[in-house]
Amino acid sequence: MSLNRSTAKPLLRVEHVSKIFARGREQFKAVDDVSIELEAGKTLGIVGESGSGKSTLSRCIIRLYEPDAGRVFFDGEDFTALSANTLRRKRQDIQMIFQDPLASLNPMMTVAKAIEDPLIIHKVGTPRERARRVHELLELVGLDPTAANAFPFEFSGGQQQRIGIARALALKPKLLICDEAVSALDVSIQAQILRLLQDLQAQLGLAYLFISHNLAVVEHMSDDIGVMHLGKLIEYAPVKEIFQAPKQEYTRTLIASVPYIPRPGGRHIRQPSLEETLIDPVQSASQRETTPG
Ligand SMILES: Nc1ncnc2c1ncn2[C@@H]1O[C@H](COP(=O)(O)OP(=O)(O)OP(=O)(O)O)[C@@H](O)[C@H]1O
Ligand SMILES: [Mg+2]
Repeated sequence: MSLNRSTAKPLLRVEHVSKIFARGREQFKAVDDVSIELEAGKTLGIVGESGSGKSTLSRCIIRLYEPDAGRVFFDGEDFTALSANTLRRKRQDIQMIFQDPLASLNPMMTVAKAIEDPLIIHKVGTPRERARRVHELLELVGLDPTAANAFPFEFSGGQQQRIGIARALALKPKLLICDEAVSALDVSIQAQILRLLQDLQAQLGLAYLFISHNLAVVEHMSDDIGVMHLGKLIEYAPVKEIFQAPKQEYTRTLIASVPYIPRPGGRHIRQPSLEETLIDPVQSASQRETTPG
């Protein structure tokens, strides 16, 4: 499956990637022949239920898992063929943020240290330059500079995610993989973090691989959407096409479960606010009755 619009040189091109795991004595394909493309500065959303292979696909892209088949091209290079050393260097250009930012932050490190850490590991700048960069990054993600000397656990979930984003941006990546990055947050905080990600994309020209089980969130963020089911990419198209003409029954079911989404062939009756899009269907139905159109 591929997009009709095919760019000559996408930032990321995944070609027929598969990943096999053992389950007892059986083997199964957690990722099954998946091909995707992502242009610089754009967002590809990957949606699918738990266990559909979203995280495994992202791990194959950065070779945290070695794919069993297929190839990954990033920024003109065949990632799957790189030596360990070159890979380590090139991997700076791809960073990840996760559902639980605290889990990826060292509890003994202050916020400033956590953000500076990747710069130290990759030997970037003098201590003074790094301190300036940390300050700049805190501002970029909307945190007060006084946050620098506190510890991550002292912050709310949304602020911790901002710290995670600042750390991920330290090395000026070209691609940010967001794996359920807002799933654990309250709806209003989710909206704030999604807006931050959109602002950062506009400002820095970042590409996002935006992974979520929540189609409403993915729709809001993405240019293209890939739907994964049992390791396969069962649908892959620009957002509008997915919603107006879904090809798979599975996709139709996903769409039906999301409030305020246009019906196939139809249009938005009323553009919902991001907060409205994020709240769950039952709540949103009662809200619809009280909110004037
Ligand atoms: N290291 C591993 N060893 C064995 N099986 C694995 C491993 N990692 C993932 N799996 C299995 O591969 C399948 C896909 O998992 P994956 O984590 O990619 O799904 P996911 O779509 O990210 O799900 P979720 O929405 O819950 O994060 C699952 O059946 C999972 O149990
Ligand atoms: Mg996952």
